[in-house]
Amino acid sequence: MRIGVPIEPGAEQPLVAATPDTVAKLIKLGYDVDVQTGAGARANFPDAQFEAAGANLVGEEVWQADIITTLDTPPAEYRAKMRSGATLITRMAPARNADLIEELAASGITSMAMDTVPRISRAQSMDVLSSMANIAGYRAIIEAAGAYGRLFTGQVTAAGKMPPATVYVIGAGVAGLAAIGTANSMGAIVKATDLRPEAGEQVESMGAEFVEIPAETQKSEDGYAKEMTADQAVAAAKLYSEQSALADIVVTTANIPGRTSPILLTAADVAKMKPGSVIVDMAAANGGNCELTVAGETTVTDNGVIIIGNTDLAGSLPTQASQLYGQNVVNLFKLLTPNKDGQTVVDLDDEIIRGITVTNNADGATSILWPPPPVKVSAAPAAAAPEAAAAEEAEEKKSNSKLWLGVAAVLGVALVLFSPVAVSPLYMVLMLAVVVGFYVITAVTHSLHTPLMSETNAVSGIILVGAVLQVGSSNLAVSILAFIAIVVASINIFGGFTVTHRMLQMFKKEA
Ligand code: NAI
Repeated sequence: MRIGVPIEPGAEQPLVAATPDTVAKLIKLGYDVDVQTGAGARANFPDAQFEAAGANLVGEEVWQADIITTLDTPPAEYRAKMRSGATLITRMAPARNADLIEELAASGITSMAMDTVPRISRAQSMDVLSSMANIAGYRAIIEAAGAYGRLFTGQVTAAGKMPPATVYVIGAGVAGLAAIGTANSMGAIVKATDLRPEAGEQVESMGAEFVEIPAETQKSEDGYAKEMTADQAVAAAKLYSEQSALADIVVTTANIPGRTSPILLTAADVAKMKPGSVIVDMAAANGGNCELTVAGETTVTDNGVIIIGNTDLAGSLPTQASQLYGQNVVNLFKLLTPNKDGQTVVDLDDEIIRGITVTNNADGATSILWPPPPVKVSAAPAAAAPEAAAAEEAEEKKSNSKLWLGVAAVLGVALVLFSPVAVSPLYMVLMLAVVVGFYVITAVTHSLHTPLMSETNAVSGIILVGAVLQVGSSNLAVSILAFIAIVVASINIFGGFTVTHRMLQMFKKEA
């Protein structure tokens, strides 16, 4: 089958739905790829690179391909150029576009909405909303840094001390976490709040402080926030007002699917902020989280607060954003092409394919499949156990751990009492090692625990040396134990280095 990648019809869309890299991957899946001349120009991908990757450069006939993939739904005049029976893969906000769905069905077009990929682990590699939000969160901090009149990082110089900037992020979803990571890496002090209590751990693992809403909040069942109760809303509003007044930069990302964005910062809250401080309202396109935001514009309030209402932050990084979007499309095609033969198979039993298929042309008839049945999110926490049962379980765990501690203490004392006198000082070394190890490991940030652990496996080298010395012992039992120690310690050492190597590879740039 032939995939067509047109120039995005919207003049304001700088991205392209495929890059030379992703074109090569689509060709590997057995497809022919037609790229319209100039399609990648605004994202810094010249035609020659597409051609070198194996694409056919074409003109307007790109719309005649079997499958068209774009960023945004093409306007009616372009949809009319598509053949009946063709497939359109694009962002189409089907929940808000009933007329469009009717029209696609009437034209016999199978359509797949890239913006309705369900939020389940298996679908993460196709989730364009997350890809774009990730880039936008990064860009939000770059925009804020550009508008803010001071440094993000603190410094002590000959000319005086410079305090670090304080960044407060409201809403720690994909965009919020990206903003937290970027601000943190630029040296700012970062705080964040989210309606979902489970976001706290992610915020802390990114090196920021989680400022909780001082009211009971509900865990999310689908990875998205629910609307707040009246009590939560009052407590949250007070918190946002206080924290924003203390912050230099505020990034708001609060989003509730299917609704206009909630107002988190009122004009009165902004009036309490410091002159020169910056608000980046990432929800600007959907009504905004700040009462004073003007969508698409940067404004300055009477008290000197800069409000950035940029609605296309991802578009400011078109090369990277196109690559991520294109890779999401490739990952979808991997799912749609089980035989890698360039033929799509629309398997409606697959919850991802079902979730994004809006209209489906099969056996000459086109049916409307929107809305899809709800998908149970794998990341959603299990239903909370009833409080009494949870308390009983906690009590049982506590008494179990006391029992094990007791047994360990008795064994420890017995070991010291019945060991040869010469060995006793070694126990002191062991105890000190346990204490030092405990403090070293707890002082390391959560996100570095896995590399730390894999690296410290190399400590097994000491065991290896001891075992090698003992393996030639005249006592058969000692030799056997030493041999087992050599095997197990070797697995630990080489396994540790292999894991560390693989983790470091993840941070290396692709050539
Ligand atoms: P998301 O759904 O992953 O995250 C939103 C977070 O806000 C969730 O963690 C949710 O629990 C939290 N939240 C909702 N209401 C809240 C409240 N009242 N107080 C505190 N937290 C609250 O969404 P994602 O993908 O991170 O996108 C965030 C926003 O950024 C959306 O509004 C999206 O439209 C926007 N966006 C803007 C772009 C731009 O170029 N300006 C590009 C991409 C996304």
